[in-house]
Amino acid sequence: MCGIMGYVGPRPAAPILVDGLRRLEYRGYDSAGIAVANGTIAVRKAEGKLDRLVEVLAEDPVEGTVGIGHTRWATHGPPSDRNAHPHADPSGAIVVVHNGIIENFHRLRDELAAEGAEFASETDSEVLAHLIARYYDGDLVAAVRRAAAVAEGAYALVAMAEQEPGRIVAIRRISPLVVGLGDGENFLASDIPALLHRTRDFLVVEDGELVVVEAEAVRLETIEGATVDRTPFRAEWDAEQAEKGGYDHFMAKEIHEQPTVITETLGGRLDGHRVHLEDVRLSEDDLRKIDTIWITACGTALHAGLVGREVFRRLLRIPTRVEYAHEFRYQEPLVRPGDLAVAISQSGETADTLAAARLARGLGARVLAITNVVGSTLSRDADDVLYTRAGPEISVASTKAYTAMLVAEYLLALLLGTARGDLDAEAADRLARGLEHLPDLVDRTLRREDEAVAAARRLVDADDVYFIGRGLDHAVAMEGSLKLKEISYLHSEAMPAGELKHGTLALVTEGVPVVVVATQRHLYDKTLSAVQEVKARGAFVVAVAYDADDEIDRFADVVLRIPDGEDLLAPVTAIVPLQLLAYHVARLRGHDIDQPRNLAKSVTVE
Ligand code: AGP
Repeated sequence: MCGIMGYVGPRPAAPILVDGLRRLEYRGYDSAGIAVANGTIAVRKAEGKLDRLVEVLAEDPVEGTVGIGHTRWATHGPPSDRNAHPHADPSGAIVVVHNGIIENFHRLRDELAAEGAEFASETDSEVLAHLIARYYDGDLVAAVRRAAAVAEGAYALVAMAEQEPGRIVAIRRISPLVVGLGDGENFLASDIPALLHRTRDFLVVEDGELVVVEAEAVRLETIEGATVDRTPFRAEWDAEQAEKGGYDHFMAKEIHEQPTVITETLGGRLDGHRVHLEDVRLSEDDLRKIDTIWITACGTALHAGLVGREVFRRLLRIPTRVEYAHEFRYQEPLVRPGDLAVAISQSGETADTLAAARLARGLGARVLAITNVVGSTLSRDADDVLYTRAGPEISVASTKAYTAMLVAEYLLALLLGTARGDLDAEAADRLARGLEHLPDLVDRTLRREDEAVAAARRLVDADDVYFIGRGLDHAVAMEGSLKLKEISYLHSEAMPAGELKHGTLALVTEGVPVVVVATQRHLYDKTLSAVQEVKARGAFVVAVAYDADDEIDRFADVVLRIPDGEDLLAPVTAIVPLQLLAYHVARLRGHDIDQPRNLAKSVTVE
């Protein structure tokens, strides 16, 4: 996720672009840059927060009234000056900014390189500048259209050409883009909040559309060239509400971003059941040597690891352990040379997880990081990196980063399983198809938010809440319970459903809420036995179950439904109603949802 800006008008473009980027910084902040046309196109960019770019511009200003800008959240190539946008073709006559992923960029880059192209960065985006330049013969719209025809993926692109200084051309393929309509000037941005202080009149560029922006005119058409006639709309949001995309809290926004985040995390990595993970370079020898997989992490990342353990065990038949990073580092763990250590961390900066990864490496393990932050300490320490592409997560309570971690683990299992021969083609295909369906399943689950709201009303005054499940459902119960406790401040515990009767059942009395996750068909009857045990003690039962499950209504007081799907992939959908449940309980209790008491987004101390 990156932020993009454009301006065409009579005023100096640079301050307008920088101001817009500041409002888009929540979308990414590892580097930033602008390009402004003034005879030639001048590009200024810098690694780091936007203030670094401001310093660069103070030392080396740019003049001109047409320009584009970008604030980056790295996906291809670490944060650096040279990977910062804008990117240009070698002549500097075509300049682009880009948000999203070009899925076939390796192939495009190889083709261009075979024709003699030399690349100045490691990004997928630069390929677009080369492609547009290749097709350019004085008509930027035509060249952008031809480039879009070959560049696959979900992205937004803005381009300018030295020979056409009065216009910028943009396309939208899924990734968001809006035009702000001014008086004798017009703007482009990734979202409305970046422009709300400039105009209230907007044209939303829809998926599959191209827009030509000039100072006095805006022309919208499909990428293929058909005319689009759209009436502008007037935005009534206040600025703060708008920054959260119209949601009241970042947590709600991030929960609802999950279908996109899953799409982005899968983007360009699946070809049939073959997986391409560009920063994972385990050799056949490395794969053969793995005796045990050690997953180390904390909090939500650890809960993602619980899912990973089950998936690796089932699909790879490799013994897999999940260890709290802070325990692991003092345990003298029995890691053997050649083992695989999977360190999971959204931030890539959690001190305990970093220390655990270093310890495992010192004991001879190969360290593979699953992280959301390109260039984070963990990504630099690791031998291999599998990036989730969740974009910046602002809410302390992690949601979209968790589902992205799960998707990363499934991709890793598919990669290792096919490479080692543990997974036959049919099983691999089935998993790959299931992964591709996930965005739709999560989207359908999100549409049932009203069910979570109703359940939240029943839980809001509880003192204690218990979460139970078996197998993968237990992993989901752990994460659901953490979500509830960290933002609602209700006491909550999760445990395997079979463990309840060994002690905790003593605490289950009339009206005590018990949340049961019941998606694993092979464990379903056993899970229901535990439900009956709590029901017999008067518990108020909330169940997460498939749409097709018509038995659960006999036992549960409230059912949070998820669409039917593969049991192995169910954690991705089953967590969603529990995230919503936690959110709405906390909301009803009037808490500071995005910044819960005593907690920090990233725990960089031991
Ligand atoms: C969960 O909502 C928390 N934010 C917390 O448990 C978090 O997952 C944990 O601190 C680990 O953070 P990391 O993924 O950045 O390493």
